[in-house]
Amino acid sequence: MTVAGPFGLNVRDQALEADVQAGLTAVEEGLLDATKSDVPFITEAAQHLVRAGGKRFRPLLVMLAAQFGDPQEPGIVPAAVVVELTHLATLYHDDVMDEADVRRGVPSANANWNNSVAVLTGDFLFSRASHMLADLGPEAVRIQAQAFERLVTGQILETAGPRDGRDPISHYLDVIAGKTGSLIAVAGRFGAMMAGADEGVVDILTQYGERLGTAFQLADDVLDIASDSHESGKTPGTDLREGVPTLPVLRLRARAASPEADTADRELCALLDGGLPDDAAVEEALRRLRAHPALEEARRDTVRYAEEARATLAPLPECAAKTALESLCDAVVHRAG
Ligand code: IPE
Ligand code: IPE
Ligand code: MG
Ligand code: MG
Repeated sequence: MTVAGPFGLNVRDQALEADVQAGLTAVEEGLLDATKSDVPFITEAAQHLVRAGGKRFRPLLVMLAAQFGDPQEPGIVPAAVVVELTHLATLYHDDVMDEADVRRGVPSANANWNNSVAVLTGDFLFSRASHMLADLGPEAVRIQAQAFERLVTGQILETAGPRDGRDPISHYLDVIAGKTGSLIAVAGRFGAMMAGADEGVVDILTQYGERLGTAFQLADDVLDIASDSHESGKTPGTDLREGVPTLPVLRLRARAASPEADTADRELCALLDGGLPDDAAVEEALRRLRAHPALEEARRDTVRYAEEARATLAPLPECAAKTALESLCDAVVHRAG
């Protein structure tokens, strides 16, 4: 049994593992190359989070999807670099929005420098991603632009909250499909498309990425409550502190509003509604949420989405890459960071 990539996926096929590993190594070189500027400070700021690591989950998905065509096609590695650069840029911006101090186990760009540097470095990364996309052709540019629109719309809808009368959970599911599912869908799509896979296969891997991406964000939202910063490289409770309503909290609120609610449910909601003014309040909310059945409910929802992603793969021919994509569904749900 071998392991491919920092995401730690178990790949049981040696040829596949070697291929994916070679692709991921090329992606690392591509990322360092794409983040070099003539201005040393820009290089430093742009490479800050590249060098800090990260799971490289999206490039891994590009490489696995590429196995359904010719995995040696020259567009595959640049497409993976484009997707990771886009993701990286959104992290620089997201940490400004969330006022997050830690990312990938190091100070976020906004904490290390300031918000202006973080925003502009994110823009720089987008510009480099666009430059590389141009070489991949107009269809790739259009796909990326559409996904980026969905991603940004998801982030804006999260900030705006549900319209009056809209069910908060269905609003939340739309938000996460937009902000996270969209780009992970592109990873699946680009991998298959650049490798010259059949159109039907490209569609399946796009659908798979969309569902897996939704499960990935659900898991991230559970981890904001359940994991410690050593595992996630982020500060636990950031969503709670920022008042971002994630599924565990939405499930809690639904329980608290139901006739079966107990005092503890209502007290926990009141604690969250108080705005968690200091670290002690965040710790207390985390302690209670970790023991609350709402967190377990959210975990079960995550498994359901991951199972939907797995089911999408059914029509694909049996092969080592399909097995790896199936196990990716478990890895997403059971990851610790
Ligand atoms: C973080 O993404 C933002 C989400 C969409 C949840 P990742 O969990 O892939 O972050 P890195 O790339 O490993 O740092
Ligand atoms: C951000 O979601 C998703 C994007 C960056 C598009 P989160 O706010 O949950 O991501 P983390 O937890 O900061 O990584
Ligand atoms: Mg965030
Ligand atoms: Mg998060």
